[in-house]
Amino acid sequence: MTQLPAPYDSLGVLITTQEIAQRVTKMAEEIHQKLPPDLMIVSLLRGSFVFTSDLIRALHLASPSKTSGPQVDFITVSSYGNQTTSSGTIQVVRDLTEDVEGRPVLIVDDILESGRTLTFARELVLSRKAKSVHIAVLLEKPGHRKVDINADFVGFVIPDKFVVGYGLDYANYYRELPFIGVVNL
Ligand code: IMP
Ligand code: MG
Repeated sequence: MTQLPAPYDSLGVLITTQEIAQRVTKMAEEIHQKLPPDLMIVSLLRGSFVFTSDLIRALHLASPSKTSGPQVDFITVSSYGNQTTSSGTIQVVRDLTEDVEGRPVLIVDDILESGRTLTFARELVLSRKAKSVHIAVLLEKPGHRKVDINADFVGFVIPDKFVVGYGLDYANYYRELPFIGVVNL
């Protein structure tokens, strides 16, 4: 049975809309400095769809040359189900549609916690002969790493709390929040 979410009025705001916007702009500048413009962006659904949509527009604004730009693709991998603890097994639920062979890839995810999801995604993209693979995450939650992996671009390092909003969910709720909130479960 699907658990109901906590009431919306019990949410605490951890990162405001304005703070997210400022940081995403800065991250796009960092990415523009370090990586080529013709990236294949691999966005991990569903949690990173909001971040990805803001990041690609920030990348456009960060790039003075408009001769080349990124392409975007999506992949859905499962690890969580409806719980707040990782199951440990990762599967491709819906695969990429683009060929990443020979491409500089930027994997975009919402949050790096155990590192299993991003390790899985990186290995998948490398096995398909990407030219290079970098990782951008909006959030990083330290202290839970099960696999030794780091993101190249990190928006915010957050405390050990279950967060929702800006694409992140609890039981597929709260994705629409324009801020990062903490839900009291
Ligand atoms: P990892 O494989 O443990 O690094 O988990 C990464 C995935 O778990 C993310 O892509 C999220 O979908 C989910 N996740 C981890 N922590 C949270 C959280 O605090 N709120 C919502 N989703 C989370
Ligand atoms: Mg998720």
